[in-house]
Amino acid sequence: MPALLEQPVALRKAASVDRFAVRCQGLTKEFGTGDNKVMALSGVDLDVNYGEMTLLVGPSGCGKTTLISIIAGLLNPTTGQIEVLDNDLTRIGNGKKTRFRGEYVGFVFQQYNLLPSLNAAENAAIPLLISGMDRRKAVKKAVECLELVGLHNRAHSLPSQLSGGQQQRVAIARSLVINPKLLVCDEPTAALDAKSGQTVMQLLRQVAVQTDRAVIVVTHDNRVFSYGDRIVEMEDGYVKRIYRRDEVHLMGH
Ligand SMILES: Nc1ncnc2c1ncn2[C@@H]1O[C@H](COP(=O)(O)OP(=O)(O)OP(=O)(O)O)[C@@H](O)[C@H]1O
Ligand SMILES: [Mg+2]
Repeated sequence: MPALLEQPVALRKAASVDRFAVRCQGLTKEFGTGDNKVMALSGVDLDVNYGEMTLLVGPSGCGKTTLISIIAGLLNPTTGQIEVLDNDLTRIGNGKKTRFRGEYVGFVFQQYNLLPSLNAAENAAIPLLISGMDRRKAVKKAVECLELVGLHNRAHSLPSQLSGGQQQRVAIARSLVINPKLLVCDEPTAALDAKSGQTVMQLLRQVAVQTDRAVIVVTHDNRVFSYGDRIVEMEDGYVKRIYRRDEVHLMGH
């Protein structure tokens, strides 16, 4: 019998009460009404730790993007509790939520969305420039983040001069430039070849473990499952099982 982490949420919480970056309880999300109603989430209980990379995996349509969108404060749940970095997201208004995201949450998506006419450092500096920081200071911070992702020597390169993996690393630098406590990533390796995908996952895990952030990564890619500290398997809008890093081989993928 595999030693899966199947104990009730309440027991897991008791183990390390101060370490949760995210706590979801009974989260549901409905889209549409009447005959068009879709139950995207049907009762998600999940805690996410600081200092770990948590993977969300499961078949297309099972609710992964919906769940991270709620966690990141981009979408409101229909019912349930959601606490992120000690903020009760069901109680804060949309204006405050926008500020919360800008200050604390970094985003990485499948598409890097780099601006083609800006170099790597300028692209990575964008969140700081938007927040009104002086350009020189913003670019300096961005270069520090490029250093973190191993691209210090490509600061002046345009996106078109970089490989897909390098462009994704610039996007990661851009997400880190605000120094977020939470990083949410939706299919960050989907457009990458196997080797670049592994580099990106290694990097994201380092971000979690070495800088004590909570990193949540949605992925279909079973080649990268072993990078997760915990792998949350979703099905039909709920959490089916949670695997630890050393249990990946037990997964039926
Ligand atoms: N804005 C929306 N309006 C209506 N239905 C939606 C909306 N967003 C998502 N859904 C539905 O909710 C369910 C969950 O979608 P979600 O995008 O969270 O799945 P996913 O696990 O991320 O899938 P994939 O792996 O294909 O990205 C799906 O049935 C989807 O069609
Ligand atoms: Mg999705």
